[in-house]
Amino acid sequence: MIPHNRPTLNIEEEEAAIRVIRSGWLTQGKEVEAFENEFCKFVGLPEGHAVAVSSGTASLFLSLWVLNAKNKKISFPGYVCSALHHSVAMISGNENLIDIAPNSPNLDLSLLKKSNSDITILPYMYGIPMDISNFKNEIIIEDCCQALGAKVNNKHVGLHGTVGIYSFYVTKLITSGGHGGMFVSSDKSLIDRVKDYREFDDRQDYKKRFNFQMTDIQAAIGRVQLKKLPTFLQRREKIFQRYKKEGLELLDVDPELKHISPVRYRAILKTTKPQIIINSLQSIGVKSIIPTNEYIVSENQSLFPNSFQFTRETVSLPIYPSLTNSEINVILSALVKK
Ligand SMILES: Cc1ncc(COP(=O)(O)O)c(C=O)c1O
Repeated sequence: MIPHNRPTLNIEEEEAAIRVIRSGWLTQGKEVEAFENEFCKFVGLPEGHAVAVSSGTASLFLSLWVLNAKNKKISFPGYVCSALHHSVAMISGNENLIDIAPNSPNLDLSLLKKSNSDITILPYMYGIPMDISNFKNEIIIEDCCQALGAKVNNKHVGLHGTVGIYSFYVTKLITSGGHGGMFVSSDKSLIDRVKDYREFDDRQDYKKRFNFQMTDIQAAIGRVQLKKLPTFLQRREKIFQRYKKEGLELLDVDPELKHISPVRYRAILKTTKPQIIINSLQSIGVKSIIPTNEYIVSENQSLFPNSFQFTRETVSLPIYPSLTNSEINVILSALVKK
């Protein structure tokens, strides 16, 4: 079976994990700090502006917490993974769901303008970022869980809003050994508050805190993966271009928008017959999926027409660094008419 996703882990990640195990210090320590600093360097922030946590969801919750989101109107698209609903519920915020733009997997910014939100969570779905330079006065959480390495105007995603979050879940662009997340901000006071929240134990007060820590084993694996990220992104781009060259109609950024540089987190095939495609790939041992199929969208079709249409007209194909050329040929054999 060619899986829809497969982590790309090798001897370097194994050695990093062994190094930490043998060191005798397994929990949050020097490796986490080094990972945070290397992450800052990668995205172009000064040292000390990133906080590693246990998941992307944890980093989103902490973003909402640090932005005082309780009882606030929090806008985000319904066409997204459930982590956003959970985080908003955990902070007791008021969900305000907005449709995605036509022919885009991302929130419709023209609807956001009219929404009068207190806080907006902007996921950059499938690696496709958005230009938010017209929203300078808004409080925006850039959800870069699917878009690490993407840029707008040559600046990394996560640096354009109030805060940025990333996920290192096993299927994401890099993984810190299964789960992990990062919170970034250019505002040092937000960073300090998030770090304080993460230090939950042995404190001399009873402020609310929680254990959202990343372990040193996770961070050591994440550091190796971060070094490999540029090569991973190149390989993903190569696969994406191969699919396009063979005539597949893939979701992509409008070529006119030269200032938007996506990463190829997903290869989303546009088709009016998704189930037929999924079945025909399945019959030759290839796993493909409907990329996002949230209950809230299918239950409220008339409120989210673009989202609903997307769930009915897209199939996500395998695309990851360890996908081999012969596996790509197998996938194409079911999709390209000779
Ligand atoms: C857009 C988006 N936001 C948030 C998350 C949550 O990240 P995690 O799975 O690391 O908690 C994910 C990943 O599942 C995601 O795709």
